[in-house]
Amino acid sequence: MILVVGGAGYIGSHFAKLLRKKGLDHVVLDNLLTGHKEALGDSPFLHADMREPQEIFEAVAEVSPTLVVHFGALSLVGESVSAPDLYWQNNVSGTLHLCQAMRASGCQKLIFSSTAAVYGDPISDLIDEDHPKNPTSTYGDTKLAVETMLSNMDRAYGFKSVCLRYFNAAGADSEGELGEDHNPESHLIPRAILAILGKVPPLVIFGTDYPTPDGTCLRDYIHVEDLASAHLLAAEHLLHDGDSRRYNLGTGAGFSVREVVEMVGKVAGTPVPCTDGDRRAGDPARLVASSARVQKDWGWKPERSGLEDMVRDAWNWLSKNPDGY
Ligand code: UFG
Repeated sequence: MILVVGGAGYIGSHFAKLLRKKGLDHVVLDNLLTGHKEALGDSPFLHADMREPQEIFEAVAEVSPTLVVHFGALSLVGESVSAPDLYWQNNVSGTLHLCQAMRASGCQKLIFSSTAAVYGDPISDLIDEDHPKNPTSTYGDTKLAVETMLSNMDRAYGFKSVCLRYFNAAGADSEGELGEDHNPESHLIPRAILAILGKVPPLVIFGTDYPTPDGTCLRDYIHVEDLASAHLLAAEHLLHDGDSRRYNLGTGAGFSVREVVEMVGKVAGTPVPCTDGDRRAGDPARLVASSARVQKDWGWKPERSGLEDMVRDAWNWLSKNPDGY
């Protein structure tokens, strides 16, 4: 039995759908703070909150999982800097409770959602897993703290984990059932779409004087379904008693903010209303992954992460669900 923590959220719900398609037994656990019950499909669901040890211990004991896949986190970079205690409580303390509850129920296998934010400002064009880790936000600090905790738990107890460091998650379910619904929405692709739909003010391009070909930031966008498929490989690895791993998940290609905005206009058939603005604090010019390690070890390959496919899937869902779920 696989327990999917945070399975009502953006990436977790796409993974839970993949489990349903594969007919794999699972239960979704979520506190529905930022997740959506409409995203659960017909996955079995438990409402519990990782911040409450009693709740999480009881829930994990009830499910008695063989593997936990943990997507549950607060993930707004700006908010993490202004409200750090919330992020340490939810992302670190909550994950500690989850791991303790797992050990109490005899489960020692965890897949953890980590992030490019653990690296901070890149010192190389392609970021591999050995790149120095100097987060520049509380969000990145909390994710790195959990990675460290998990390494400590492996050394002490043989607790095995796979930490997957996502670059820019993008797109939506290619069958149109699921999508990205954050409140507030701060991410580039959905914001550009919502600007076309008149749901948010015109898009502001944050900085046009970066040392990049067109002056706007480069990011490595990766389709949410490709992220889901990497979790399935991680699940197979751990369920076959594999060792602990840390992997980047990206495509190795960077797209500029302008390229993304142009693609949204092309897919929507109407240009994105937008203006040039100042830089946003804390944005590195370029964040592009080397995912060579996971490609080599597990043969993972992004299948749907062309820019047009990602934007089209995001458009298909958001244009039908402009107010979210
Ligand atoms: N951008 C704009 N205007 C907007 C929104 C975004 O110009 O209204 C730009 C940003 O400045 C950035 C790019 O579009 O250059 C992408 O921004 P997002 O907010 O979509 O994503 P980030 O790169 O800031 O964030 C991603 C992940 C985070 C992770 C972070 C690591 O979403 O979870 O990378 O730095 F923490």
